[in-house]
Amino acid sequence: MDQTLYLILLLIALCSISECVQRQYHFINVLKTWTEAQRFCRKNYTDLATVDNMNDMNELKKSVNDGGVQYIWIGLQKTSVDKWQWSSGEPALYLNWGSGQPDGRVECAMMRNGEWHDWSCSNNLTFICSSSNMNTGLVFVNQTKNWRDAQSYCRQNHIDLVSVRNQNESQQIQKFINDNHRSNDVWIGLFRVRDPWQWSDQSNSSFRDWNTDEPDIIGKLKNCTVIGPNALRRWHADSCNNQFPFVCHEDKLILIKENLTWPEALRHCRQNYTDLVSVHSVEMQEEVMNVVKRASTEAVWLGLHNYCQMNMWLWLSGEIVCYQNWAPGNGTTPENCSLTKRKGALQSGGDQRWISLPETHKLNFICSRS
Ligand SMILES: *[C@@H]1O[C@H](CO)[C@@H](O)[C@H](O)[C@H]1NC(C)=O
Ligand SMILES: *[C@@H]1O[C@H](CO)[C@@H](O)[C@H](O)[C@H]1NC(C)=O
Ligand SMILES: *[C@@H]1O[C@H](CO)[C@@H](O)[C@H](O)[C@H]1NC(C)=O
Ligand SMILES: *[C@@H]1O[C@H](CO)[C@@H](O)[C@H](O)[C@H]1NC(C)=O
Ligand SMILES: *[C@@H]1O[C@H](CO)[C@@H](O)[C@H](O)[C@H]1NC(C)=O
Ligand SMILES: *[C@@H]1O[C@H](CO)[C@@H](O)[C@H](O)[C@H]1NC(C)=O
Ligand SMILES: *[C@@H]1O[C@H](CO)[C@@H](O)[C@H](O)[C@H]1NC(C)=O
Ligand SMILES: *[C@@H]1O[C@H](CO)[C@@H](O)[C@H](O)[C@H]1NC(C)=O
Ligand SMILES: *[C@@H]1O[C@H](CO)[C@@H](O)[C@H](O)[C@H]1NC(C)=O
Ligand SMILES: *[C@@H]1O[C@H](CO)[C@@H](O)[C@H](O)[C@H]1NC(C)=O
Repeated sequence: MDQTLYLILLLIALCSISECVQRQYHFINVLKTWTEAQRFCRKNYTDLATVDNMNDMNELKKSVNDGGVQYIWIGLQKTSVDKWQWSSGEPALYLNWGSGQPDGRVECAMMRNGEWHDWSCSNNLTFICSSSNMNTGLVFVNQTKNWRDAQSYCRQNHIDLVSVRNQNESQQIQKFINDNHRSNDVWIGLFRVRDPWQWSDQSNSSFRDWNTDEPDIIGKLKNCTVIGPNALRRWHADSCNNQFPFVCHEDKLILIKENLTWPEALRHCRQNYTDLVSVHSVEMQEEVMNVVKRASTEAVWLGLHNYCQMNMWLWLSGEIVCYQNWAPGNGTTPENCSLTKRKGALQSGGDQRWISLPETHKLNFICSRS
């Protein structure tokens, strides 16, 4: 066979590895209250189980190797935290409420003289959309609609209902309103997050699989979540003081916020976990991108090392680098073999691409657990 063709076939064979296991579930068949179960999981694994999607739910069900068990705790708990969020999906970090606001039990917010007021979503107001077409990035819509319809209108015709993420944006929007002589109340994209249920590990997963008529909002005593009996194992709210078996999860990727050289990081991971992480696929890249956000250094070590004489990059797990996400100028040009050995790191911010650095740099790093 032609040698190039052979190499390409070999690469295809080697590169078709697909892996995507963010966390592993462990069923603990011991009766505990929700808080005791949480303590057990945090000590021995990562936390009480978080579920991101139906795939996770199926994995979790598989971990329960005793069909006779009826109710089982997972990590979802009701909190009274009142959260506001932008229509674009961003959390509302900057807040500019008028004095005494928010003061109602309503779910939407409007802007009056630059300040925000909570306002019943069914009221009809004019509104401002964010837009890519206009110089200002803003469009005033001179039609009154309720908040939901205003949101749909903006999403269909522009980008979304406007976000006001900092004082600068707030001033720009006020200027926009004044320049256009529109001083009435306008909807902005702010709404109250209705779902008070939060995951024990602080994950913001919005996946829910409540059973019909759950969660029981009248049952003020039912602040914790069990998965129910039968094969579906849909979710029910229950009293946190009841005792049930439970499911813990263990994260497969662990960010270590210590500043170590690459060889030190490798030793730390191999001693305490399995290895420095290898990123074989776009799915894996997404997972490490998620983990790396909390890093304190500008980049974090990956299990990526340069085999200088061959001008090749390899993963610790032995695989050649198939999926690639190098920053421009990195990873492609041959390294100078008479200098310090080079290793691969992932940028913590920006595009979160891979960069080549001397192994003596001190960085945070990501260990994997298999
Ligand atoms: C961790 O697990 C062990 C046995 O599996 C158990 O004895 C111990 O109590 C657990 N730790 C906590 C904090 O529950
Ligand atoms: C349940 O959570 C609510 C807040 O959502 C709180 O007001 C209430 O006291 C909690 N009940 C129990 C029994 O913990
Ligand atoms: C908003 O406008 C709609 C359609 O014109 C109307 O049916 C509805 O009653 C109005 N809502 C309020 C709160 O005035
Ligand atoms: C907005 O619409 C109202 C009635 O449809 C009209 O009277 C008003 O002049 C319009 N305002 C602007 C600034 O276009
Ligand atoms: C405010 O936003 C404008 C436009 O995006 C930008 O040019 C300006 O630098 C910003 N000012 C500050 C203080 O961030
Ligand atoms: C959850 O948080 C991540 C960042 O930690 C963010 O990228 C994602 O959009 C958030 N998801 C939701 C539904 O808020
Ligand atoms: C393993 O983890 C412990 C606790 O974080 C740490 O003290 C130790 O140095 C680690 N092992 C290595 C080889 O780094
Ligand atoms: C690691 O380095 C970063 C950036 O230099 C620094 O902000 C952080 O405090 C350091 N962390 C530790 C544990 O020394
Ligand atoms: C590697 O990428 C970083 C970040 O983009 C850049 O600063 C650096 O110049 C690149 N290295 C080379 C050799 O181009
Ligand atoms: C490699 O680095 C050494 C030491 O700094 C230097 O003398 C040499 O010219 C470099 N080689 C290349 C090809 O850049």
